[in-house]
Amino acid sequence: MSGGGPLGRPALLFLLLVAAIPFFGSAVSIDAARTQLLMREKMMQLGGQLVLTEQEELANERLMALKKAEVTQAMKIQNFPPSMHFFQAKNLIEKSEVFNILKKMPKGAALHVHDFGILSMSWLVTNVTYRPHCHFCITPKGALKFKFAYPTPPTPLAAECSEWVLLEKYRKEMQNVTEFDSGLLKNFTLMTENPEVDYANQNIVWSKFQRIFFTISGLVHYAPVFRDYVFQALEEFYQDNVLYLELRAMLFPVYELNGTIHDQEWSVRTYREVACMFAKKHPGFIGLKLIYSDHRMRNVSFIMKSVQRAMMLRNTFPRMVAGFDLVGHEDTGHSLYDYREALMIPSLHGVKLPYFFHAGETDWQGTSIDRNLLDALLLNSTRIGHGFALTKHPAVWADSWKKNIPIEVCPISNQVLKLVSDLRNHPAAVLMATGYPMVISSDDPAVFGAKGLSYDFYEAFMGIGGMAADLRTLKQLAMNSIKEREHKQGEQQREREKQAPR
Ligand SMILES: *[C@@H]1O[C@H](CO)[C@@H](O)[C@H](O)[C@H]1NC(C)=O
Ligand SMILES: *[C@@H]1O[C@H](CO)[C@@H](O)[C@H](O)[C@H]1NC(C)=O
Ligand SMILES: *[C@@H]1O[C@H](CO)[C@@H](O)[C@H](O)[C@H]1NC(C)=O
Ligand SMILES: *[C@@H]1O[C@H](CO)[C@@H](O)[C@H](O)[C@H]1NC(C)=O
Ligand SMILES: *[C@@H]1O[C@H](CO)[C@@H](O)[C@H](O)[C@H]1NC(C)=O
Ligand SMILES: *[C@@H]1O[C@H](CO)[C@@H](O)[C@H](O)[C@H]1NC(C)=O
Ligand SMILES: [Zn+2]
Repeated sequence: MSGGGPLGRPALLFLLLVAAIPFFGSAVSIDAARTQLLMREKMMQLGGQLVLTEQEELANERLMALKKAEVTQAMKIQNFPPSMHFFQAKNLIEKSEVFNILKKMPKGAALHVHDFGILSMSWLVTNVTYRPHCHFCITPKGALKFKFAYPTPPTPLAAECSEWVLLEKYRKEMQNVTEFDSGLLKNFTLMTENPEVDYANQNIVWSKFQRIFFTISGLVHYAPVFRDYVFQALEEFYQDNVLYLELRAMLFPVYELNGTIHDQEWSVRTYREVACMFAKKHPGFIGLKLIYSDHRMRNVSFIMKSVQRAMMLRNTFPRMVAGFDLVGHEDTGHSLYDYREALMIPSLHGVKLPYFFHAGETDWQGTSIDRNLLDALLLNSTRIGHGFALTKHPAVWADSWKKNIPIEVCPISNQVLKLVSDLRNHPAAVLMATGYPMVISSDDPAVFGAKGLSYDFYEAFMGIGGMAADLRTLKQLAMNSIKEREHKQGEQQREREKQAPR
């Protein structure tokens, strides 16, 4: 081909240039606009306004390089741990370099954890069930139950449990103790190889969840074990770089070998003593507080009494008892609105009883249970446990933000208890992107096969926050958990000053 015909080379070049110039020109302005949008979103997200020190910037670069490598690799072979069930992801997570950095990082406080779900269950098997005078029986429904006693306690009613068997004697006559012990451990956690098959729906997983607490109750409420449990649990969190805890505690009766039963004041005092002793041996440890909790299966008149007990306990132990909450499966329990009469008692008497309600731990939008979020707000909850459904309630969302009510996000708990399967789809992703105040916690890590806070921080950092989350996010999360605590202490200080005689 020769000359500059209509489709000759120079003409083609010209056409390309004509087409490319405006395209290139608009690309520049699109780029600027994109950058601006990205910057705006970066400022909005949780921790986005934090300014890192030079050293922190350097650390952030390294952390983000590792994170990027892990995410890129996971995208390639589609094995991203936060999108898998935790039971199947756990081994992968433990191999992650990001996870190992998270373990070493200061994580502040664990503000949403429950009394007997916080210490690795293997400790119960290898230490507690090997103590002398440990008996077990099996209920008609097949659940294990334990009791320390000497001499052997009388046989329970057949409708309740089988004969008591002394574990020490039973183990001596056994063929394979290792096998038996691993069976015990299976009774103490939800861990299984096929969670999707074994826990087909929320009710099934919740019933096993509750059975676990029923089973370990006789172990952890034995006075010598109770003390050791609290100490060891603090140790496990301290090892994970957590320096302060607020425990939702039911304060069930603690018993001695001879059958003596202690009251709730004894339990609170013991928590206080153990935390004190622990603090002496562990530099930097800040402490432990209790959020007295009752079960949402209870009727209104029962909860009226427990609200009054909470007021009394807080009055007796103002520095130990932070407030009150209601626990248990939200979907099948009473709503906060059902309990309104009971929950209004403190304010009617002019008494301050801070609330820390579990609310919105549900997928059932628009039900009476889902409205717990409204009532948590109206009852001035200091924080909201889970708040999983918060993004479905724009008005509550706006008001609770205005009142600076943080949510306590527990990613692994929400996944194992079947509210969400892929943690990239956790609703906290929206809240994190908009900078809503939140803390990360682990609920009952021991029951889920996790430990401390690091596994949940990993899921939040990698899955919920995605590539947008960086060191600022982590720093903000840790700061939020401590700020929450200081805020409350300041408030208590003011209260004490008000009450002090002049
Ligand atoms: C259990 O642990 C405690 C320390 O918490 C220790 O004193 C005790 O000897 C251990 N018991 C057994 C049976 O391992
Ligand atoms: C005991 O059971 C475990 C599996 O639970 C098995 O690995 C081990 O070989 C068994 N030991 C004996 C002595 O049979
Ligand atoms: C619980 O323990 C009992 C008694 O050791 C055992 O037979 C059973 O298999 C265990 N349950 C599970 C789910 O492993
Ligand atoms: C029961 O045991 C506890 C703790 O060992 C002890 O303080 C208490 O005096 C005992 N009570 C009776 C009635 O023996
Ligand atoms: C509430 O529950 C308690 C114990 O669970 C029971 O004794 C009481 O009768 C119940 N009250 C009402 C009004 O149902
Ligand atoms: C919640 O706080 C508001 C505003 O401070 C107050 O009017 C209301 O009585 C409080 N409600 C309860 C139940 O404490
Ligand atoms: Zn909880």
